[in-house]
Amino acid sequence: MFETLAAAPPDPILGLTDTFVQDPRSDKINLTIGVYRDESGLTPILKSVKQAEERLLSSEKSKGYLGIDGLPEFRKLAGELTLGEWVEPERAAVCQTPGGTGALRVAADFLAKQTPHARVWCSTPTWPNHNSIFESAGLETKAYPYLSDDRKSLDFAAMFELLEREGRAGDVLLLHACCHNPTGIDPTTEQWSELAELAGQRGMLPLIDFAYHGFGDGLDEDRRAIAEISKHHAEFFVCSSYSKNFGLYSERVGALLAVCPDHTIAQRLASNIKVSVRSNYSNPPRHGGAIVAEILGDAELREQWLVELAQMRGRIHSMRTQFVEAMKQSGCAVDFSFLLGQRGMFSYSGLTPMQVDWLRTQKGIYIVGSGRINVAGITTSNMATLTNAIAEALRT
Ligand code: LMR
Repeated sequence: MFETLAAAPPDPILGLTDTFVQDPRSDKINLTIGVYRDESGLTPILKSVKQAEERLLSSEKSKGYLGIDGLPEFRKLAGELTLGEWVEPERAAVCQTPGGTGALRVAADFLAKQTPHARVWCSTPTWPNHNSIFESAGLETKAYPYLSDDRKSLDFAAMFELLEREGRAGDVLLLHACCHNPTGIDPTTEQWSELAELAGQRGMLPLIDFAYHGFGDGLDEDRRAIAEISKHHAEFFVCSSYSKNFGLYSERVGALLAVCPDHTIAQRLASNIKVSVRSNYSNPPRHGGAIVAEILGDAELREQWLVELAQMRGRIHSMRTQFVEAMKQSGCAVDFSFLLGQRGMFSYSGLTPMQVDWLRTQKGIYIVGSGRINVAGITTSNMATLTNAIAEALRT
């Protein structure tokens, strides 16, 4: 049967990285996949992570399986980090997952089994894998507007109006807690509050993708969505990732946090989540979760991690500002200062698919087809090449 198989299209993000690796040009620039890069273009291992690993290497006594829901210490600390003071720990069922993607898929499987008629509302645009994950689990996805027509700001009125008109009790409302992927545009606290109230009135279940915690304005500030939603909802899901904020991309560490009205319900829900996990990947890998737990559970390592996280956030912010300035200097007619209000790794540049194509083929500059730029991939040394090429693309 294999010989009749047609080839599947490459992934819109990971597929581009494969093409980039094969590109022989020495001055090529990769601004596709969302990984942090330092000033020298490397994705570093954080010092706090290295130290935690050294400790684990000498103290680890077994490679036995973890429980279905992962390391207890990780679950406790991930719960505190993500939900903060907004949710009593006993109300949350926390499950360690292979990355944030794993958390989304476990949530999707759970929802498909428990509420198969739920529709999952995703922003337009959203991370392309969101639709794939929920649809693969058998759920219907629906789109709500997010970006304004000029592709520079949030069209909150359109988003609100559509959800108010079409949102149904039992539907799932997928939201990005901060650093919206791909636009970098987040709602304000007031807008979060209005959205949370609306979803509550409509009986929709919020599902918050929290992949960039700490990359926006800070750990506390980036939890504003959680704060507002917890005021209006006794039940919601959070899918968190530790790929970006701990730089643990390939260790695949994330968590699914299900907030419930009380402890008894949380325990019942946790038992159902375990059923989904067992028939999927059985139980999560240990190493990434153990690193996160080691860092969060130790005052000194935690302090160091906070400094490193602030450095990553600061460098991205500085690159975004310098990029806007350099575009101005390049004589480009387009004013990119709308990027300054964006947060996190990504910026929606407004470049068309044709311009993106031209940049890749003519200049070896790789940007996702939607025009999303990974700002964390910009360095002082590739800035001029990049901005001159974009200015040329916009002229031609
Ligand atoms: C991205 O959007 O680039 C990241 O979330 C990585 C991924 O898996 O797509």
